[in-house]
Amino acid sequence: MAHLIMADQNRSSSAASKRILERAYALKTPDEAKALYGDWAVSYDQHLEQGLNYIAPACIAQILVNVLADRTASILDIGCGTGLVGAYLVGHGYSAIDGLDFSAAMLNQARSKQIYQKLLPGDLNTVLDIPDQTYDAGISCGTFTHGHVKADALDEILRVLKPGACFACTIHREVWQSAGFGSKFTQLTASGVAELESMNEQPFYENAPDDGRFCVIRRL
Ligand SMILES: C[S@@+](CC[C@H](N)C(=O)[O-])C[C@H]1O[C@@H](n2cnc3c(N)ncnc32)[C@H](O)[C@@H]1O
Repeated sequence: MAHLIMADQNRSSSAASKRILERAYALKTPDEAKALYGDWAVSYDQHLEQGLNYIAPACIAQILVNVLADRTASILDIGCGTGLVGAYLVGHGYSAIDGLDFSAAMLNQARSKQIYQKLLPGDLNTVLDIPDQTYDAGISCGTFTHGHVKADALDEILRVLKPGACFACTIHREVWQSAGFGSKFTQLTASGVAELESMNEQPFYENAPDDGRFCVIRRL
């Protein structure tokens, strides 16, 4: 797969970008995802922004803006990748943003943009090395999708958020049930840990179907 992606790296045509996206949507396991992002990191922004007109980072950042007035709030960008979401948050005036991702290659790209205070290596399918109730808010874009992260990761994410904090995230429509998000929200609400405050169906890419569920989850 690496040599195919390398061959694509200098082409920003939407055909090349769509081929990589198809590979991403065919991922079955987190190990496959890590390998893909290791190979893709350098050309990721070019493929997503120019090749595919990826609008989800701007949209989810705006959703956080709507519920988080305090521009000094500490925010964790979960599955931050190369930092596309972080760049929009900085544009909205937030300054205390950390990023977390399990791909060293994606974190290296994010580091070069000098957006984040801290960049934390971490796997969302395991226990995170972050103390309880650290952050005022969380955000995540494109990470709850095929072969990436199961709904139980929400337990860890909510653990590191302060009571009252909001978590703005996208969840791909196709994994909502299969990765357990529907039943997870029922469980979190019943146990008084968190509630799904809003959910809008929107596209990840300009002029594409409404494949994303853009959510605000409130830690209680
Ligand atoms: C589609 S990219 C989205 C990156 C960025 N948020 C954006 O919107 O451009 C998904 C990101 O999630 C990260 N990721 C996937 N599974 C993960 C896991 N289990 N733990 C931590 N990060 C993960 C990948 O490394 C990748 O950077």
